[in-house]
Amino acid sequence: MRKRYAVCGVSNRAIAMYIKPIMESFSNSAELVGLLDIDPLRFKVCCDRVPQVKDIPTYLADDFGKMIEEQKPDALIVVCMDCAHQYYIIEGLKLGLDVITEKPMTTNTADALRVREAEKNSKGNVICTFNYRYNPVHTKLKEMILAGKVGRVTHVDLNWYIDIHHGASYFNRWNRMRENSGSLSIHKASHHFDLVNWWIDGIPQEVHAFGALNHYGPNGVFNPSKKNGRHCKECPEKKNCAYQRRFTSRKDGSFMDSHLAAFQGTEKCYSNYTPDMCIFDEEINIHDTIVANVRYKNGAFLNYSANFSTPYEGYRLAINGTHGRLETTEFGGVGRSIIADYHGGSQFIDYYPIFEGRERIHVPQSGGGHGGGDPKILEDIFLGEDPDRTYDILAKSVDGLRAISIGDAVYNSIVNGGVQDLSSFME
Ligand SMILES: NC(=O)c1ccc[n+]([C@@H]2O[C@H](COP(=O)([O-])OP(=O)(O)OC[C@H]3O[C@@H](n4cnc5c(N)ncnc54)[C@H](O)[C@@H]3O)[C@@H](O)[C@H]2O)c1
Repeated sequence: MRKRYAVCGVSNRAIAMYIKPIMESFSNSAELVGLLDIDPLRFKVCCDRVPQVKDIPTYLADDFGKMIEEQKPDALIVVCMDCAHQYYIIEGLKLGLDVITEKPMTTNTADALRVREAEKNSKGNVICTFNYRYNPVHTKLKEMILAGKVGRVTHVDLNWYIDIHHGASYFNRWNRMRENSGSLSIHKASHHFDLVNWWIDGIPQEVHAFGALNHYGPNGVFNPSKKNGRHCKECPEKKNCAYQRRFTSRKDGSFMDSHLAAFQGTEKCYSNYTPDMCIFDEEINIHDTIVANVRYKNGAFLNYSANFSTPYEGYRLAINGTHGRLETTEFGGVGRSIIADYHGGSQFIDYYPIFEGRERIHVPQSGGGHGGGDPKILEDIFLGEDPDRTYDILAKSVDGLRAISIGDAVYNSIVNGGVQDLSSFME
């Protein structure tokens, strides 16, 4: 029998990652029975992109109860703005439904703990869609650690770079407000913290961080002038904005970048909001430069950094253990061409056994979003977890809690200073 799913939040992610695949690839096991959003325009956008949904019932957010009553879903897929996740997750659990939630599960630790409580009292289960785990390089790292290649993990060194294009996109949109996204230490870095937690089987205990807003906000060095409320599409200062100029044709003003073109196209995609708000607005209250240290219960340490305005995209990772070291780097984004000759564009893992030599492992990449992670996680979600896999990969609410509480502690440490102790509530 097909499992009945209702989608809460008809976001871009919902359409591409869940709605289209349910209609096109998983219709034997999954049935889409309802779409819910605060914005009726999103139903039209969805229908334009995935015409097969034209007869699926739609509901405004206030009609959540009506949707449940009329459509009787078995599970909710929660893919709306981050700050609203907790409401749908907890309401779904109260009704005994399974819940699949996009990251971040919630935008703060207190809400994540509420989700954990609700799940304990429900027959429903929560899946957290940490799709980065399914990237073949990340899976291989997990397998190598499980195989004992590095012995006991003692330290992880992870530096993430989000380029001028991808990084700026967070500051054009709702994501730029702590109250909406929890901040980038949660919205984005929870992916990274989850990877480390999963690789090393780590339960975080203490966190310390520094952070700053160096590139965006009114004091960003490339701000043409200090004004609030500008929108890229009609901005009279566009030609003086380095971030815009980088992607705009001088000939006809069109965007040489599909991501920006989609944001700033003529077609309206959201009723009361355009995702081209000025990256130099004063209201921005999150950080674009973050450094953090984490101590884990098993004795391992993490030092982490994230920069959101770099010339190219990617990360550098080293995992040190008692018996060896693993290293990998990933590069891409708008600056791919300037670093392509660094290692021919393909990602590999270097393994250094502690007393001898080096092995280089080339990991075949697969197609699809997030390095091939997106199509792989969808199979586990809609077909059930692969029974032949020998380790856990599909994340649960406890994994959401662990990743979010590091991100929340990072934000709190940046703003209030000091080491944040997670040990009293961490599971
Ligand atoms: N795992 C990943 O790699 C990944 C990638 C992209 C986005 N995401 C996540 O997917 C979600 C959507 O992101 P996006 O960038 O596609 O968003 P988006 O800006 O395209 O859409 C957000 C949607 O939420 C709706 N919404 C806002 N408040 C709501 C409420 N109270 N109830 C119902 N709907 C509400 C908006 O109307 C809008 O349709 C976010 O949680 C984001 O973190 C995850």
